[in-house]
Amino acid sequence: MAKPKLHPVANDLGANAKAASVTLLNAALADIIDLTNGVRMAHWTVKGPQFAALHTLFEGFYDQLGEATDDIAERVVQLGGTPNGTTQEVGALSRLPAYDPALRAGMDHVKALTERYAAFAKTTRAAVDASAEAGDADTADLFTGLSRTLDKALWMLEAHLEG
Ligand SMILES: [Fe+2]
Repeated sequence: MAKPKLHPVANDLGANAKAASVTLLNAALADIIDLTNGVRMAHWTVKGPQFAALHTLFEGFYDQLGEATDDIAERVVQLGGTPNGTTQEVGALSRLPAYDPALRAGMDHVKALTERYAAFAKTTRAAVDASAEAGDADTADLFTGLSRTLDKALWMLEAHLEG
């Protein structure tokens, strides 16, 4: 991946650490916005006997992802970068599979979201190590918190698939 163009900022982290973190954060930003949109689609379109529980669960998920999205994008700016947060950038850069707008059944949404949360949790865990190795403990901490949030949501989704 090409090195991001950074604006000068007073933050004393080294240029290489900043560039590494901005690259990792922007990759996560595209994924988390895409994931949030998938969760919102699930919240809106879910049907079936578990409607009320899943509709509410998915609402909690996108509120949580919204907070994390803001933290990720703001850290990009703190490090001198530009968040790739436009709809067009997210569409081009997301590493997640497209969310199927035809899904309706509760368990189909749960399976689709389990797959996407698992994929994003994996790249987030890798980003913890990569940002720590780049020397940016704060970005590593941000990814660590996000990783815990994703693992918990993944557990809640997977619990529906038992039996
Ligand atoms: Fe709603």
